[in-house]
Amino acid sequence: MTTVITFGTFDVLHVGHLRILQRSRALGDRLVVGVSSDALNMSKKNRQAVFSQDERCELVANLRCVDEVFVEESLELKRQYIEKYAADILVMGDDWAGRFDEFNDICRVEYLPRTPSISTTAVIEHISGMAGGNA
Ligand code: CTP
Repeated sequence: MTTVITFGTFDVLHVGHLRILQRSRALGDRLVVGVSSDALNMSKKNRQAVFSQDERCELVANLRCVDEVFVEESLELKRQYIEKYAADILVMGDDWAGRFDEFNDICRVEYLPRTPSISTTAVIEHISGMAGGNA
């Protein structure tokens, strides 16, 4: 059994999120996803998530490719999470390329390419623009 672990905020779920989760799951037999807490997201992105951590966990947990979710409380705990969930492979988006190589001593670290032309930020900006245009 090969366990894959990955992390992210997954706010305003979009196809880029789905694809990286599907590709992560395809690397092994079990996919565990650490969903950023509201506080961690705020510290990383300087913006409040649209959906709460419980809602984001519920959405991600119910994707067919995801086996288990937990709330990621701190970036400093990555090593503990990898060990707790006995992950064999850590997947990150290639926007983080090289940044997690320190975990090569306990798991394989894979950086997968992001889906082009979509992000939570772009979706929020798109919808904000539409709302502004109709005002
Ligand atoms: N991701 C991806 N392709 C995209 C957007 C995100 O593969 N187009 C991946 C990221 O690399 C990460 C995971 O999805 O591994 C969660 O990313 P997250 O930061 O939650 O989503 P973004 O859309 O990048 O959010 P934001 O615009 O707020 O930075």
